[in-house]
Amino acid sequence: MFSKLSIRLGLLLFAILMMMELLLYVGLYVSLVDERVDEVSGQLLARGNTHRDVLEDTYDESTLSHVTVMESASDFIVVITDAEGEIIRQSGPVDSALTATIREADRESAPHAGRVIESGWRKNKYIATDSPITIEGRHYGHVYMFAPTSIIREMLGELGGRFLSVGILSLLLTLLVIPFLTRFITRPLLRMKRVTEQLARGGHPAGLDTGRQDELGDLARSIGKLSKDLDRMKNERNAFLASVAHELRTPMTYIQGYADLAMKPGISGEAREKYSAIIREEAHHLSKLVGQLFELARLDQNDFAVRLSPVKLSALADSVLSLVRPAFEEKGVQLLCNIPERLVVRLDATRFQQVLLNLLDNALKHTPAGKQVHLQATVLKDSVKVEVADEGEGIPEDELSTVFDRFYRVDKSRSRKSGGTGLGLAIVKEIIEAHGGQIEARRRPAGGTVMTILLDKGGDDGTHSSGG
Ligand SMILES: Nc1ncnc2c1ncn2[C@@H]1O[C@H](COP(=O)(O)OP(=O)(O)OP(=O)(O)O)[C@@H](O)[C@H]1O
Ligand SMILES: [Mg+2]
Repeated sequence: MFSKLSIRLGLLLFAILMMMELLLYVGLYVSLVDERVDEVSGQLLARGNTHRDVLEDTYDESTLSHVTVMESASDFIVVITDAEGEIIRQSGPVDSALTATIREADRESAPHAGRVIESGWRKNKYIATDSPITIEGRHYGHVYMFAPTSIIREMLGELGGRFLSVGILSLLLTLLVIPFLTRFITRPLLRMKRVTEQLARGGHPAGLDTGRQDELGDLARSIGKLSKDLDRMKNERNAFLASVAHELRTPMTYIQGYADLAMKPGISGEAREKYSAIIREEAHHLSKLVGQLFELARLDQNDFAVRLSPVKLSALADSVLSLVRPAFEEKGVQLLCNIPERLVVRLDATRFQQVLLNLLDNALKHTPAGKQVHLQATVLKDSVKVEVADEGEGIPEDELSTVFDRFYRVDKSRSRKSGGTGLGLAIVKEIIEAHGGQIEARRRPAGGTVMTILLDKGGDDGTHSSGG
């Protein structure tokens, strides 16, 4: 019924409440006891003083008897002595503890107002007071009053009993209240636990208290957002898987179909060669596709990081240009490069080479013979701009951002013929973002496309993670 947290919380609350109650009770008990003992000794002294006053008025046999007779009916004992402490009268049995107290009392210094001579009710049998009798300046004797401490103990026993019953009652009340208290605190947590379990099973979170204005409300809202993100990711993943399956199926169908055709008996050598060429081309496309999918999967991993180091951009561009130049020459497209000689940018050289290769490949594919493709870099205030501009047909205005989506191709049939997978720009974008940069496509007014990359000038710690 209770989660572990609520048990722990309950025990903690119980311990705290019990501790507080115990402290309060002990404090109350001690002060009550002191008060009661003071009260008894005060009473004792007042009675002793009254007897003494009576005796000072008339000190004779009948008054002495009168005092002892009066006290014999009470719980107290009165003992009257002469100035030397010899007992003259007593109202009850005199035992050794009582005589010892009288013997040890300092008779000479006793004040006329009387005083408590024994108050240690815990160790002694009696508490006692002394009221000296003085008549016309002469020290006549003493009125000693004794209260057996058993009276106090009895009274305290009664008090203790009451405390015990109140203690038990408050223990029961505490036990009764704690489950409510812990439930009050842990219920929203338990509800969120249930909701996240629903989420984990693929359901939708229901019953989250997102309206609360406290930390639990924050938590509930985070869970709600998490659930939406999870949904979006699930949908994206499904769409991506569907596209992957679709993209794989097309070349597979071609390969299968042409292989069947090539194996038909009586087919001409020329036709067989043509079919084999198609099969090879499709197999090549397939392996490119699989390779790029792997690449994307790697870029998607959370721990993917680009290793930034200072790179001379013109040298990097030279090595890329030497790779693509033969293809440009073959098609008859002019390739121009304009990069400041000494420009050094912090980037991952291998990854950035891959970016330039992709962009130049696209530019070449979409630029007709006789036109130009231009690679250039410009230094801005705190960034570096790298551009690949072509004079091709350009990208339609409303597709300028979607060309970076996975598998997106403006003209499906033409791209297929040119062997495009539609993953090139998606990979480029991931790499640039891993560098902490941005990429965007623009149409040139004169016709053609410009791909613009903005990179931080540097001052970074060297690595950039793509995840998060
Ligand atoms: N310079 C460009 N001019 C015109 N259209 C472009 C240009 N670059 C990209 N595109 C359009 O964007 C689409 C996506 O490009 P992307 O590089 O992602 O895929 P691809 O070139 O078709 O395939 P791959 O890069 O795998 O060979 C292309 O199919 C094309 O339609
Ligand atoms: Mg491409």
